[in-house]
Amino acid sequence: MRNICVIGSCSMDLVVTSDKRPKAGETVLGTSFQTVPGGKGANQAVAAARLGAHVFMVGKVGDDHYGTAILDNLKANGVRTDYMEPVTHKESGTAHIVLAEGDNSIVVVKGANDDITPSYAIDALEQIEKIDMVLIQQEIPEETVDEVCRYCHSHDIPIMLNPAPARPLKQETIDHATYLTPNEHEASILFPRLTVSEALALYPAKLFITEGKQGVRYSAGSKERLIPSFPVEPVDTTGAGDTFNAAFAVALAEGKDIEAALRFANRAASLSVCSFGAQGGMPTRKEVEELLS
Ligand code: RIB
Repeated sequence: MRNICVIGSCSMDLVVTSDKRPKAGETVLGTSFQTVPGGKGANQAVAAARLGAHVFMVGKVGDDHYGTAILDNLKANGVRTDYMEPVTHKESGTAHIVLAEGDNSIVVVKGANDDITPSYAIDALEQIEKIDMVLIQQEIPEETVDEVCRYCHSHDIPIMLNPAPARPLKQETIDHATYLTPNEHEASILFPRLTVSEALALYPAKLFITEGKQGVRYSAGSKERLIPSFPVEPVDTTGAGDTFNAAFAVALAEGKDIEAALRFANRAASLSVCSFGAQGGMPTRKEVEELLS
């Protein structure tokens, strides 16, 4: 069993479903409202745990009802919460999600996630023994992402940076990350002057650009490869990227080669969209392996 450390956001997702997405200034009637656990960090932690990794979550929640529910959910999924801290001066993070017309729109209020300082994250990393992979995303302060990437690089700890939501990254942070996993939009923010092929060629076996239904594109050195996704009829695509990142990290940490790891990750992501909620469809290891075989 591999040790995965996820540093990132833990939030509550407030999800409205509607037949129509409202335009600016418009009011529409929704069809349902549900509150489910989310946040890119917690989603990746839960996905990795269901896929058989030993997962440590490093993050913060508010000292409130959502915070308690978020911690309970992590524990129920077998995620270690020793490095989770409740804060009293901020509320738990929330994501306000509209599911309409076959896709989601999300507004994130970071709340306590904004208190994950570089020193808090590095202290946790120093205490966890033998980390096989760190997973980090961008719903936490930018300086924490920069410092964690620097720390992992200097301590030879593989780190996967999922640069979501999109924001520009310092060149040294890109250099310090072992793996970078933007979607197409995030890649265009990271490499505004490069085509997809030019960016991939600059970072062979390091940059993996997810293209939704198409699959994942990367450079294997001399040639560009597209590993196709598995076709499914999606119910809710929220959390598909998180499942992909977690599964890719678990597979690489276990020593799978890149193509096998990407197939494993694509399969896990395709299952995750078949149920409602970011974590609702995240598969177990057995479910992914049965379908792959
Ligand atoms: O990646 C999906 C997640 O992004 C949701 O669960 C929501 O919390 C948003 O942060």
